[in-house]
Amino acid sequence: MKENRSKHRILILGASGFIGNAIYKELCSYFNTFGTYNIARKEFEDNHHFFQYNVEEDDVFEILEAVRPTIIISAVRGDFSAQVIAHTHLAEYILATNTKLIFISSANVFDAYSQFPSYELDKTLSHSVYGHFKIKIENMLMRLPVKQVVILRLPMVFGTQSPRIKEIKQHLHEKTPIEIFPNLIMNVTTDSKITQQIHYLINRDAFGIFHLGSSDLVHHDEFIAEIISSIGLFNPILKQVYTTNNDRYLAVLPKENLLPNHLQVLSKQILTELQV
Ligand SMILES: NC(=O)c1ccc[n+]([C@@H]2O[C@H](COP(=O)([O-])OP(=O)(O)OC[C@H]3O[C@@H](n4cnc5c(N)ncnc54)[C@H](OP(=O)(O)O)[C@@H]3O)[C@@H](O)[C@H]2O)c1
Repeated sequence: MKENRSKHRILILGASGFIGNAIYKELCSYFNTFGTYNIARKEFEDNHHFFQYNVEEDDVFEILEAVRPTIIISAVRGDFSAQVIAHTHLAEYILATNTKLIFISSANVFDAYSQFPSYELDKTLSHSVYGHFKIKIENMLMRLPVKQVVILRLPMVFGTQSPRIKEIKQHLHEKTPIEIFPNLIMNVTTDSKITQQIHYLINRDAFGIFHLGSSDLVHHDEFIAEIISSIGLFNPILKQVYTTNNDRYLAVLPKENLLPNHLQVLSKQILTELQV
């Protein structure tokens, strides 16, 4: 059933990217959906629902003024400090309007905790610059009215068109080493599952923190090996990277905010989807 198109005006920052574009394609037939791209290319320049936006140079207010979104989805990359400033401006807009912000965060907000998987209400702590930066934005958003913020923490995202799979294929063809992390225990997801989950969360007017990874955990090296064997018959060159002697978890599991069964996913289903 199609929702009322006029109900929401959705602005996706980073709508030309892997995840942002998948979200755009999922939502554009149901909602009045707009997006940004950074690097000029014809497909986006010709689409009047797309705006060129460089987080380091442009003021996000101009796009907000033009679109007047009721929902903003942040799926952007770019310089970390510039992103923090842009999200400060988004926070001001959200406070001044009744807009909701859906922020794509990462399992890396927990990368300093290596002994367990992490749940929604666990305290965040990171040893990486990337994790630190995501925590900074999450903390800023958590000071906004709760009903206006959705934080989605994602583990590694795969998909037939994902940069990760493309990179693996390129290494296989060029016979160059593929990095695997034998000690890393993680959960995984796909762009197609994330987009269904976001569509559901929008329809439900949900708010809060959601951990959108597979329900089960995988070893990084085994998961990559399965992907390689599903791509075809190769003698891959694998480079084992040990960052610690012990197993290390980088997994975001749900406990507080569970999605319905049909929106949960197992790593096996992800491997099957990647074979298509
Ligand atoms: N992929 C994952 O496994 C994963 C996991 C956890 C969290 N995330 C988060 O998900 C979000 C999207 O990731 P992704 O993998 O879809 O990234 P992506 O494919 O690299 O897309 C990034 C998007 O940001 C835009 N962008 C890049 N630099 C910019 C700049 N300086 N100014 C304005 N826009 C800029 C890109 O525009 P152009 O296309 O024009 O370059 C593109 O639309 C990120 O916030 C990331 O931290 C991703």
